[in-house]
Amino acid sequence: MTTSERLRDRLLAQASLADPSAFPPGFRWGLSTAAYQIEGAVREDGRGPSIWDTFSHTPGKTFHGDNGDTACDHYHRWRQDLDLLQELAVQDYRLSLSWSRLQPAGSGPLNPLAVKFYRDLLSGLAERGVRPLVTLYHWDLPQPLEDAGGWPARSTAAAFADYVAAAVVALGDLVQDWITLNEPWCSSVLGYGLGAHAPGRRDLAAAATAAHHLGLAHGLALARIRQLAPASRVGISNIVTDLWPATDSPADQAATQRLDASSNRLFLDPLCHGVYSDPVHAVWPALAAAIRPGDLETIAAPTDFLGLNHYHRSYVHHDDTAPYLALRETPAEPADTSCGWSVVPDSLEAVLIRVARDYSAAPILVTESGASFDDYVDPDAAVVDQERVDYLRGYLDAAGRALRAGVDLRGYYAWSFLDNYEWALGYSKRFGLVHVDYASQRRIPKLSAHWYRREITQHRQMTASPAHPA
Ligand code: FCB
Repeated sequence: MTTSERLRDRLLAQASLADPSAFPPGFRWGLSTAAYQIEGAVREDGRGPSIWDTFSHTPGKTFHGDNGDTACDHYHRWRQDLDLLQELAVQDYRLSLSWSRLQPAGSGPLNPLAVKFYRDLLSGLAERGVRPLVTLYHWDLPQPLEDAGGWPARSTAAAFADYVAAAVVALGDLVQDWITLNEPWCSSVLGYGLGAHAPGRRDLAAAATAAHHLGLAHGLALARIRQLAPASRVGISNIVTDLWPATDSPADQAATQRLDASSNRLFLDPLCHGVYSDPVHAVWPALAAAIRPGDLETIAAPTDFLGLNHYHRSYVHHDDTAPYLALRETPAEPADTSCGWSVVPDSLEAVLIRVARDYSAAPILVTESGASFDDYVDPDAAVVDQERVDYLRGYLDAAGRALRAGVDLRGYYAWSFLDNYEWALGYSKRFGLVHVDYASQRRIPKLSAHWYRREITQHRQMTASPAHPA
């Protein structure tokens, strides 16, 4: 990887982590992606359509009508992408499998060409000394399953468990760490309730039912993995947002509780405590009808780790005119990413401490954390994303404080390895540590990638030394 002199000077001027020894030896430094956001090749080698193909090709659903047809063309460029990962010195790479590539109909035998693709990819990671953390579902439901009712249909949970079992049989010798679901809140609430994500339905009762079936799908899949690959480690990744009342008023405080129940607690309560608590039932009245005897025990079976995706803190305002839960969210200050999300590093410390204190003694992995900025490719073809370096340093320092406070945090996976297809926002938001020019598919590691590599390398050297105060 060549670094221009100017970029090298900028890197030298960057501060390091405030307290690197807060991160224990063996701490897992990683980068994250998801299949539909990077792979492209949506009609190749037998892949079937997923709900994201359908949604993104429906006029008016995504920014500029952008879709994942080509994305980062990772399906064809994976070898050079893995070389880049290795150059960035990360220990771990979190990727997701495309269900509709592996099992185009959503049931039945796996597609051998897809199995070959993922086996080659996973072997390629092993050859480069990078460990995979594999998400089995990152939002791309095979379209035939949506046509049969989607996540509001209970049968989809069973279909997921069968797909997971087949994937574990086909790939399990190359993977030790599995994540069943990524952010089931987005799949259920954004997908079925608010219509902002695929499949674009607007039915809050369907969203509640989908949420329960996603939890159930996780529990059923977990049991299958335990049976088929007892040595593997399994978790689930939830988005946990740091919600604050906009003012001290009882109305804003109640609105904050409603939003917390409808999002953070909708999954954390059943997964970690085996219940949907009263505030969750109050905001999701349709939940009760979906629950069958034994479901909550299935959902709450212990995992080996808890994945936590975290981006921002927001302020919550009671608002009678708002269409959803009579509330409105605004970013906490300063709201300076291109998504309008705040950069408040303390929020990561807060959610880590909350989850460790109120929910789970299991090890935690921050499976996503990152920020979008309007990155600029300068005339030297360098991308000096100072804001992202500041973001990463701030959030990692916050993670270090959570470690000092006793949180059993084992890894941090920055979102994202590459700029990629940001769902309904299309290609307009760039989260990558590596810039992607979509016209040429050229990759340029940004300043943040160089900084991250330096911090990882320094941490490795420090913890390898016998003087390390571990
Ligand atoms: C998360 C998603 C991930 C990415 C980031 C920005 O909610 O899991 O795929 O879109 O947001």
